[in-house]
Order: sequence, then structure tokens, then C-alpha cells
Amino acid sequence: MKAALEFCLVLLTLHSPGVLSLSTHVAIVYPQDPVLRMGSNLTASCWIHPDLGLHANSLFWTLNGQQLPGSLYKVLSPTNLSLTLVGLNASRQTSGDNLVCHNHKGHILAGSCLYVGMPPEKPVNLTCWSRNTKDLTCSWAPGGRGETNISTQYRLKYKLRWYGTEKECEDYSHTQPYSCSITQDLHLFTPYEIWVEASNRLGRATSDIIILDILDVGE
Ligand SMILES: *[C@@H]1O[C@H](CO)[C@@H](O)[C@H](O)[C@H]1NC(C)=O
Ligand SMILES: *[C@@H]1O[C@H](CO)[C@@H](O)[C@H](O)[C@H]1NC(C)=O
Ligand SMILES: *[C@@H]1O[C@H](CO)[C@@H](O)[C@H](O)[C@H]1NC(C)=O
Ligand SMILES: *[C@@H]1O[C@H](CO)[C@@H](O)[C@H](O)[C@H]1NC(C)=O
Ligand SMILES: *[C@@H]1O[C@H](CO)[C@@H](O)[C@H](O)[C@H]1NC(C)=O
Repeated sequence: MKAALEFCLVLLTLHSPGVLSLSTHVAIVYPQDPVLRMGSNLTASCWIHPDLGLHANSLFWTLNGQQLPGSLYKVLSPTNLSLTLVGLNASRQTSGDNLVCHNHKGHILAGSCLYVGMPPEKPVNLTCWSRNTKDLTCSWAPGGRGETNISTQYRLKYKLRWYGTEKECEDYSHTQPYSCSITQDLHLFTPYEIWVEASNRLGRATSDIIILDILDVGE
């Protein structure tokens, strides 16, 4: 079970035993793959096809493989069982948390991936330096408490002050996180405006803009 938890979607696309094939839509968890803020509440429901001959009160829920207590369930109808989670914690893994609805034997009927995190905060401490005026490397730190398990993209953007068009740095460091090098078409004698944009599925945030002249940041 442990290994499967690392990949939310993989677990759910595994073939369920016997008649419980996903292709026939025997059951469905709603909502599918929601993106939620930490601390928020979620009410999910597991609907089962009447032909399965199961009753909603025989089902149970797991979150990341851990069975959730029946006190969180509500039988809405013989074919619909809801679950209410209060004060969601950050996802344990960026691939999402596994919320799964099981029959009484433990077989997986349906599932959903929960992505719980926070919108990015304003990136901070943006600094840039140039080794030989042919490149410009910038690094920054994610703002606030950093990333909260829903993947966040950082884009370093720049433009020549006054008349430049906005460009995006493309050479992100593979070895150092939060770092990017601009290696082409650098202009001397004209200051650059440089900033970082952070975004994830809950929101976006932009750093302060720094203004620098390549000749002033040589090492
Ligand atoms: C979540 O549910 C709890 C308990 O029902 C309630 O006190 C709280 O206000 C809810 N939070 C949000 C963000 O709706
Ligand atoms: C199950 O109940 C929930 C909550 O009332 C509802 O939103 C959902 O549509 C129901 N699902 C089905 C398939 O009837
Ligand atoms: C959040 O984590 C705490 C501590 O591990 C746990 O007691 C609580 O049930 C979790 N809340 C949810 C909604 O999973
Ligand atoms: C940003 O820089 C300040 C001053 O050097 C430092 O105190 C702070 O820890 C840095 N913040 C991060 C998130 O690295
Ligand atoms: C996910 O969040 C938990 C705390 O909620 C933290 O302990 C863990 O390191 C985070 N994992 C990743 C991959 O960010």
C-alpha cells in the first residue's frame, strides 16, 4: 500500500478486482481532484451504481491508506455516502492525497486526489550577479513558509528599463533551486528590471522588482 501512495493517480487507475472495473463507472467520488486551501473543509461523496447491490452504509473511506472514522460519514441515500473533512492539512505529497471509497471487503470502488496547499507568497531576496558581463544569474527564495505541497512554478522575468519588452529567463538551474541564468543578448549600459512570478493552482504572487546594470553586478 505504501508505494502506491506516492502516486495518487496510479493507484486509482489500477485494475480493480472482478466486476469492479472503472470503465463501467460503478462508482464515482465527487469532487474529482479538487485543489483546496489548507484549513478549509471538504464534503465529498461516493456514489455507487445501484446494480452493485451494495448499500452506502457498508462503504468506508480512506485518506492516504488510513481508514477514516465513521463519525465523519453521512448516508445521503442507499447509493450515496458523504464524508466531511474539517481543517484540511497540507497534502503529504505533491502528487496529491488519495481519497478512496471502498466496499466492505476493502476493494477500491472509486477515488479522488486532493491537492491541499496555500497560494504562493511573494518571493523574496532576489539577487543577481554576472561573472563576465556575458551572463546574469539570479536567485531568490520562496516567500513565507515556502511551498506547501502543491507544486509551485517560479518564473524569472526581465526587461530593459524604459523601452524593453518583457522576457522570461529560460536557463533554470538544475542543481540549485530558485535560480536562473540569462545567457543571451545581454545589454550593457541600460538597466534591467528583474522580478520573479510564483504561481500555483491556488494563486500567484510577484516579487519586488529589482533594477540593475550588468556592469554593477560583476564579480
Ligand atoms: C469548517 O467547519 C467548521 C466546523 O463545522 C467550521 O467551524 C468552520 O468555520 C469551517 N471552515 C470553513 C473555512 O468553512
Ligand atoms: C450525492 O450527494 C451529494 C450531496 O447531496 C450530491 O452533491 C451528489 O450529486 C450525489 N451524487 C449522486 C451521483 O447522486
Ligand atoms: C490533520 O493532521 C492532524 C494531525 O496529524 C490530524 O489529527 C487531523 O485529523 C488531520 N486533519 C484532517 C482533515 O485530515
Ligand atoms: C532573506 O534575506 C534576509 C536577510 O539576509 C534573511 O534574514 C532571510 O532569512 C532571507 N529569507 C529567506 C526566505 O531566505
Ligand atoms: C508536505 O507538508 C508536510 C507538512 O504538512 C511536510 O512535513 C512535508 O515535508 C511536505 N512535503 C513536501 C514534499 O513538500
